[in-house]
Amino acid sequence: MTASSDRPIVFSGAQPTGQLTLGNYMGALRTWVRMQQDYDCIFCVVDLHALTVRQDPAQLRHHIFELTALYLACGIDPEQSTVFLQSHVAAHSELAWLLATFTQMGELERMTQFKDKAQQHQLNINAGLFTYPVLMAADILLYQTQRVPVGEDQKQHLELTRDVAVRFNGLYGPVFRVPEPLIGTDGVARVKDLQEPSKKMSKSAASELARVMLLDEPEAIVKKFKKAVTDTLGVIQYDEVNQPGVANLLNIWCAATGHSREEALNHFSHNQYGKLKMETAEAVNYLLQPIREKFLENINNQELLLKILTKGAAKARVRADQTLEKVWESIGLPIARR
Ligand code: TYM
Repeated sequence: MTASSDRPIVFSGAQPTGQLTLGNYMGALRTWVRMQQDYDCIFCVVDLHALTVRQDPAQLRHHIFELTALYLACGIDPEQSTVFLQSHVAAHSELAWLLATFTQMGELERMTQFKDKAQQHQLNINAGLFTYPVLMAADILLYQTQRVPVGEDQKQHLELTRDVAVRFNGLYGPVFRVPEPLIGTDGVARVKDLQEPSKKMSKSAASELARVMLLDEPEAIVKKFKKAVTDTLGVIQYDEVNQPGVANLLNIWCAATGHSREEALNHFSHNQYGKLKMETAEAVNYLLQPIREKFLENINNQELLLKILTKGAAKARVRADQTLEKVWESIGLPIARR
């Protein structure tokens, strides 16, 4: 491993809105864990983002600790990477305000996640939900990030982040580094809902059967895969359009076992959906078992979790403030001596 300053900077985060799904893990967290060796990684629990949907305070607090414990259980090492809570570093909110003045309404109106969430939460279409991608741009740009490992659903937000950075730099000089998205490079860019395989697997799906959670018991996982929606064609081939359910199971099996798609098609050439479902469930259980065990070891030690987050925030704050001061200076705001 090289010194942290020589390694490219990686930033990513997940919302503390309930346990993580298999989609979160295969689309993002597994990649984060693998990147720690070669990159200077910063992983954030993005609690401010979660506030765009109404949260119960006690539950939010619980979810923050739960997500921190899950990061560790998945293999994020707080000694090697910076792990912190977004609300502990004020620069995120400060830069978000400044960047909002460089983001056009029309750009935000085009965001498909905003449209979906506004549909889901019709009684609370708050301004934060609308400006959510600006806060995300601030998260990323504060750390002079080079790579952002995320699932495919975040692609549009990353494009906006790049556009805002380029626009700002065009006006004031090279203040921000323009980050590159890393989408599904090391897993599955979009794990699909097991009940409606045209949609992404999401924490908010109406049916429990639609999603696999990282902490699901093995029997529950088997049940969910057994009930996964497929089709009536009776052939196991990779066809996302006509057989999205089968394609999803093949993707998950490949990501869980490390086999290629070609190997999967050979392995399942018997065309038996029942076997495909059972073997996928078994592979996922094998993958998640150690995560469940590690999670149980650290979830009850909230003192330790808070200590990790506090230490991470101290490291993040120093770096974030450097960028924020550069921004203030470039737009003409005198720097307060902190
Ligand atoms: P969040 O919390 O919804 O999801 C965390 C990560 O999981 C990925 N993901 C998926 N990948 C594949 N298949 C799926 N079905 C699936 N569902 C979720 C997401 O793409 C994400 O990478 N806005 C972000 C959090 C965020 C962030 C950031 C990310 C805030 N600031 C800065 C990167 C950089 C979000 O809501 O992720």
